[in-house]
Amino acid sequence: MRSRRGSALIAIILACGACVTGAATESLPLTAARADVGRERINIDKDWRFAYGHAYDAQKDFRYGTRPFFFAKAGYGDGPASADFSDSAWRKVDLPHDWAVELPFDARADANHGSLAIGRNFPENSVGWYRKVLHIPAADRGRRIALEFDGVYRNSVVWVNGHYIGTEPSGYSGFRYDITDYLNFGGANIIAVRADATMEEGWFYEGAGIYRHVWLTKTAPLHIAQWGTFVKPKVEGELARVGMDVVVANDGKSAQSFTLRQQVFAPDGRLVAQTEQASLSVGTARDGEFSSSLTVPNPRLWSLDDPSLYTLKTSLLQENKVVDSYDTRFGIRTVVFDQNQGFFLNGKPLKLQGTNNHQDHAGVGVALPDGLQTWRLKQLKSFGVNAYRASHHPPTPELLDEADRLGMLVIDEHRMMGTAPEIRGQLERQIRRDRNHPSVIIWSVGNEEWALEWNALGAHLAREMHEQVERLDPTRRTMVATSGSGKGVSLGADVIGFNYGAQHDVDQFHRDHPAKPALMSEEGSTFATRGVYFDEPTRSHLNAYDRQGRPGNSLSIEEGWHRVQARDWMAGMFVWTGFDYRGETTPFGWPAISSQFGMVDTTGVFKDTAYYLKSVWTREPMVHILPHWNWDGREGQPIKVHVYSNAEAVELFLNGRSLGLKALPKDGHLEWTVPYKAGKVTATAYRSGKSVARDEVTTTGTVSRILLSADKAALKADGTDIAVVWVNVADAAGRIVPTAGDQIDFEASGPIRIIGVGNGDPSSHEPDHPADRHAFHPLSGWRTLAVDGPDHPAAHAETVDTSGWRDPGVWLAPENQPAATSHVVLRGQFAGPAMAPNDRAALFIDQLGADQAVYVNGRAVSATQVEGGLMVALEAAQLKQENSLAYVVATPEGGVQGMLDRSAGTSKWGVLRVISPAAPWRRRVFNGWAQVIVQSTGEAGEAALVARSNGLSASTVRFQLR
Ligand code: GAL
Repeated sequence: MRSRRGSALIAIILACGACVTGAATESLPLTAARADVGRERINIDKDWRFAYGHAYDAQKDFRYGTRPFFFAKAGYGDGPASADFSDSAWRKVDLPHDWAVELPFDARADANHGSLAIGRNFPENSVGWYRKVLHIPAADRGRRIALEFDGVYRNSVVWVNGHYIGTEPSGYSGFRYDITDYLNFGGANIIAVRADATMEEGWFYEGAGIYRHVWLTKTAPLHIAQWGTFVKPKVEGELARVGMDVVVANDGKSAQSFTLRQQVFAPDGRLVAQTEQASLSVGTARDGEFSSSLTVPNPRLWSLDDPSLYTLKTSLLQENKVVDSYDTRFGIRTVVFDQNQGFFLNGKPLKLQGTNNHQDHAGVGVALPDGLQTWRLKQLKSFGVNAYRASHHPPTPELLDEADRLGMLVIDEHRMMGTAPEIRGQLERQIRRDRNHPSVIIWSVGNEEWALEWNALGAHLAREMHEQVERLDPTRRTMVATSGSGKGVSLGADVIGFNYGAQHDVDQFHRDHPAKPALMSEEGSTFATRGVYFDEPTRSHLNAYDRQGRPGNSLSIEEGWHRVQARDWMAGMFVWTGFDYRGETTPFGWPAISSQFGMVDTTGVFKDTAYYLKSVWTREPMVHILPHWNWDGREGQPIKVHVYSNAEAVELFLNGRSLGLKALPKDGHLEWTVPYKAGKVTATAYRSGKSVARDEVTTTGTVSRILLSADKAALKADGTDIAVVWVNVADAAGRIVPTAGDQIDFEASGPIRIIGVGNGDPSSHEPDHPADRHAFHPLSGWRTLAVDGPDHPAAHAETVDTSGWRDPGVWLAPENQPAATSHVVLRGQFAGPAMAPNDRAALFIDQLGADQAVYVNGRAVSATQVEGGLMVALEAAQLKQENSLAYVVATPEGGVQGMLDRSAGTSKWGVLRVISPAAPWRRRVFNGWAQVIVQSTGEAGEAALVARSNGLSASTVRFQLR
């Protein structure tokens, strides 16, 4: 956001009822065209190049920051930041991309972050470079062009055409750079991004790299600012008064006057209200803020069951032409946090049935395709979740889009507490970005700030943040989540979020602060390994019966819900957590690699507590039995059988024999102790004496086949759409074997690719996302010799003493240059890399002259043209401990000096790349389950995923890509 608002022209347009539908139709036809004009927002996720740099060794960081005057002179970006740098040897990647999930597990890594080899101990894995070529047409001259990053983890530095553009420390904040002034119109432009994930921001897996979308936005100089609209609908009886703020930026060279048109379209696309104000103006290099309002009669309210979305189209017109047009989706709904009666949506009381979630998923880390955001929210909704706390940072924008579309309430949380300018800037961007989402019900300004929870500074900072939020969004309240109530931060925001009932005297707090609404922002933190019913600490596996994780500090899920249900004033409960996430391996350290707090595992398979929540959070009849019934070796031993149901009573049977009918306690569960005997346990659930639901667990046979099932068979051939495929191992009768751990190989064919595999085992060290690893070995020791022909032995001798040759990096005045000869030889060296049997080596060289000859260790080699350069494939056997590369080229005009690649040291003249190929896509099922995520490659046609395993019959799932 620009900070020029002080002198901005503020125009208040108050549209009266007559300006609205009906009366307004005379002057402004309601059939106004909707096509966007003037603005383009182009997704630029495809075709980036990626390579690991280094956190402190400049040589391994492609000599970034080593050129004299590198940061002292504008446009002196060096290494990959230079426009001249050749990245043809780098890996191609599409965004979103998380390089951390591609790394191996390592005991020296941080267990809180998932024990992947990144961070302080792994400088070679902690910096990632991204580069992309952008072609900007000449016809764009005169427009404003900006890069918009939704999130880069973290500490990103962006360069365009060798010019420094900016640094964003936060891995969770969206940021925008107007790069118009640096662009080659009608030519290529190089964007380089260096991300440094050495340091943490949170205490959970955070990923690494450009893991959210990147956009190129083109507008007229006069345009609506980024996140420049704020829609503030207010329900008043039968109508909604829709307040609208818009920020108009003028990047032109003169003051601009324009007409502002605002149109509201109903969920069915009908234009239902509009207003137009002419003769507004904004000075040059200014932002103008304009406020107006419209009335929408009989609004269709946004709710969980009917998440209806309206669209505000904001257009700027000059000389009757639309110069910018911008759509804002919004919902009309009311949200109230009441200190005595809890939460209300549209005037109706609603208990928040929430889960906390971090943003990683099995297989893909934090680089979630949009379709996976949808899938995850649906998975949560399927057991009755109606609210999502984005703990502990602003979520990806597409998650909020989906929450709007699906009907899911969101606590939108800021990452770092504070009021320093940088933190304020991040908070402001978060609120401007997210304040039009009807799903967002509250802003959380902090979570468990141990240095602030108890003191006056905590209360002060929370208050200050609250006030900042209120200035940016007076329509919502603020919250702070705390482990210590009564003092400090807990007093600063509107609403208190209690983390863990057992840590607070919530009733005392309520008596002491009767005006403060409250919710359980975290409850549970129970430990449960999916499909495990007896602890096995050596495998970091804990039984999945619901119980207190840390007695005295937290409650079981069921106890937590009872407490919330018993208090009308408590707005609801957010379970810690919905999904398991990498890192925070409590109560284990290494070799555990993920948390076990979730109601579902990292792939989304339900644990039994998800069924408990389903039984208390949904009405559709259901019954669920735990554990499974494969207890070979425990014959006759007592097994605890628990049953969850939302019916009134349940009867349990073992092999057809009734074990009794029991009435369900309110919000509770049922228990039987059953001596194990192979066969079948059945539960029949009754309402009003009628059987309404049934579940059974059966002793299975041995594993015999693989079952694949996808969430959909038809995918969009758009290069982004995904399908989530369940992988199960079953017996001959097709029953999933709940103890199976078979290893399965996956192969995709046709226009899909596999983008991740997982199985929810919190101690599996199998790769989720195997990837090629590129190692670069730079060439050095360049020396040059003037020779009188292309066949000079100085070029093709295997070894040559170059001590008398010239160092091309040492500048010589023209008069001191050696006498011109027809050719020059350039020789450099490289050390032989350590190579594993499957590794592949290749030299990347440059075209230094028209008829160049190139020799490796004295052998002439021919190069193939690859995108952006020339490549020489090398056999490992060709390589020695010390190797030489020699070019012979016709002496260029101006001498050798003109050939010197100043931008990137010597990297452009040659770099040796060694690829260690990715491990194959393969995964063990964990207790019968694994998951594969496949994605469209962009082409249409038929695709298939095949799963094979030794001794099991294979399985194929097919997709149509259209
Ligand atoms: C809370 C914290 C969460 C998570 C949880 C684990 O104190 O807010 O982020 O760490 O504990 O039990």
